[in-house]
Amino acid sequence: MKRIFLDNASTTQVDTEVLNAMVPYFTRYYGNPSSIHAYGREAHEAVDAARGSVGKLLGAQDDEIIFTAGGTESDNLAIKGVAYLNKDKRTSPGPHIITSAIEHPGVLEACRHLEAQGFKVKYLPVDSQGLINLDDLRTSISKNTFLITIMFANNEIGTIEPIQDIGKIAQEHQVLFHTDAVQAVAKVPINVKKLHVDLLALSSHKIYGPKGTGALFIRNGVTLQPLIHGGGHEKGLRSSTYNVPGIVGLGKACQLAGRRMKKDTTHLKTLRDMLIKNILQLEESYLNGHPTQRLVNNAHFRFTGIEGESLLLGLDKKGIATSTGSACSSKKLKASHVLLAIGLDPVQAHGSIRLSVGRKNTKTEMSYVTEALPEVVAKLRTMSPLWNR
Ligand SMILES: Cc1ncc(COP(=O)(O)O)c(C=O)c1O
Repeated sequence: MKRIFLDNASTTQVDTEVLNAMVPYFTRYYGNPSSIHAYGREAHEAVDAARGSVGKLLGAQDDEIIFTAGGTESDNLAIKGVAYLNKDKRTSPGPHIITSAIEHPGVLEACRHLEAQGFKVKYLPVDSQGLINLDDLRTSISKNTFLITIMFANNEIGTIEPIQDIGKIAQEHQVLFHTDAVQAVAKVPINVKKLHVDLLALSSHKIYGPKGTGALFIRNGVTLQPLIHGGGHEKGLRSSTYNVPGIVGLGKACQLAGRRMKKDTTHLKTLRDMLIKNILQLEESYLNGHPTQRLVNNAHFRFTGIEGESLLLGLDKKGIATSTGSACSSKKLKASHVLLAIGLDPVQAHGSIRLSVGRKNTKTEMSYVTEALPEVVAKLRTMSPLWNR
């Protein structure tokens, strides 16, 4: 059976160039970068080179990048790391951290953890397309606010937030601004300086790099409290022996992303738009998220009378891998907090599905999907008590 991977927002296939760059760091250059002998120096040079590649993709300096074990860890370090240094503001009233209702659990759960410790968190609502309101943001800032954390682009519905405007507002109010850019990196050109971003989280496995590696951009001058204490790696911010192959892979993935961004985004947009145009021809089908301010690889639909999980399984039988909810919550069968936040009711939320395209997908695959999906929807509707036409 033909198999088509349309779940690239959840993870991506490691690029062959990335894999080839990593292999020697398992086999030949296996030294510990902290060692001062030749083995150590070789590994150290590779880590430094990777740091340069990540920095270059973001418009950051090399020494503003630290390596982590993924997007979730980067988010946690950014948010808790700043918060723990601002403990003294805890007793004052008012919201201290501002975030949005549609963040990834890596941000939301870090914020909830801080709330349990006495911090105040304001969860900004979003409109029906998933955008925060900048006036809401402005009016939510108080003298006790020390951090704004708003995602660059949403992992479920693909909506891209007005990051530069948020950055300017944060800067005007002298509040630090962290953005979870896990989904945006490699799909949207990013320059942290132009965007007025202080902290930015990214993850390797979303950009054709290996799983279990990520990075955090920390603007020079921003101080954080580490979450992992130990040997003092990464300027004391993230102790633990370097995952050299993973870091090399992330560096190569960033290099490729920079080199291929124009070509990739044109390709992804063509495929995404094929899906959107064809699938929306189905009766009572709707696009979730913003029609234009959305990630080039994201198509998120809802269908009246359909249960998303059944559609996912029906497509899976035809070899097509899709997703309902985010990768972390898709097994929980709870209505997605993102879809509820854009105003869908639980039934509509459960009738939604995400198709996310990647570099390797083809137009032929999209044609197969746009034929297969209506068949599955039609079949499910004949059995659905919610569809009695
Ligand atoms: C927006 C967003 N933030 C954070 C993460 C977590 O990244 P990681 O899997 O590297 O921990 C994800 C992964 O799905 C994501 O989509």
